[in-house]
Amino acid sequence: MARPRIFVTRRLPAAVEAKLSERFDVTINTSDRQLGTEDLREAVRRFDGVLPTVTDRFSPETLDVGRSHARILANYGVGYSHIDIASVARHGITVTNTPDVLSECTADLAMTLMLMVARRAGEGEREIRAGAWTGWRPTHLVGTRVSGKTLGIIGFGRIGQAVAHRARLGFGMEILVYNRSPVSPGTLKTYGATQVESIDALLPLCDFVSLHCPGGAENRHLIDGRRLDLMRPEAFLINTARGEVVDEAALAQALMFETIGGAALDVFDREPRINPQLRDCDNLVMLPHLGSATREAREAMGFRALDNLTDFFAGREPRDKVA
Ligand code: DGY
Repeated sequence: MARPRIFVTRRLPAAVEAKLSERFDVTINTSDRQLGTEDLREAVRRFDGVLPTVTDRFSPETLDVGRSHARILANYGVGYSHIDIASVARHGITVTNTPDVLSECTADLAMTLMLMVARRAGEGEREIRAGAWTGWRPTHLVGTRVSGKTLGIIGFGRIGQAVAHRARLGFGMEILVYNRSPVSPGTLKTYGATQVESIDALLPLCDFVSLHCPGGAENRHLIDGRRLDLMRPEAFLINTARGEVVDEAALAQALMFETIGGAALDVFDREPRINPQLRDCDNLVMLPHLGSATREAREAMGFRALDNLTDFFAGREPRDKVA
């Protein structure tokens, strides 16, 4: 029987590409450049399955390619707000993601950002590289203590919980949580966390706010100018979720006028483009979407996508089916 034809939109870790090729008839975008709408339409039209990433936008137009089309989008990544879920449902396309395997590494990166912005690590690094360090002095690049402070977590899924674990056990932080649905008392107890009924109630209570909710239209600009104003003047905002969750123009204003202490972003609204206003903010740390970027996580994500494809084409329900 002919092996299913799979289009892979980006280079993947070598071990994952090798295993994929053993099981499927694989075509890889070896240029590794970001694909446009026409490239993706072509992939949906010609292949039995597509293995995309966060950089591939599957809009209604991309997915509407006529009667014959791919039957599965096995997304490499946990977030899938780049895929129009109403359209895939209309076309009968299955979507899977890769949860769990990146939670620990993404939580590690959220902690990295929290520490970097509070302890002014980005500023210090820039200073040394610019040859501008004049030596130790008591008033030099004085930051904010992290240990023992209050951390607000918005979205208490797997990654939010992994952050709570680190912050609570490693840094003795008090954990407040906002989550759309009630979190079980057992889970809250595990992390010594308290659930707060609304984002507006949570923000004024926190020294740090870390975002771990999904992106997409529903959460676009969840953190807008009004909510930034609810944060303490010395508080820090951390975003490892999705760029669209934060109104970047409002954030730039808050940073420039120092109505909050600082921010650290791993994700951006129109990445890889960066809002120029953000570049001018010294109290902002920026990383290029590195949340899951460890060898371990990136391989595990690939194998998880491979398992989802294998199950799907064997007629089984993939374990990570999200649509
Ligand atoms: C994820 O898994 O959602 C990462 O942000 C990459 O897409």
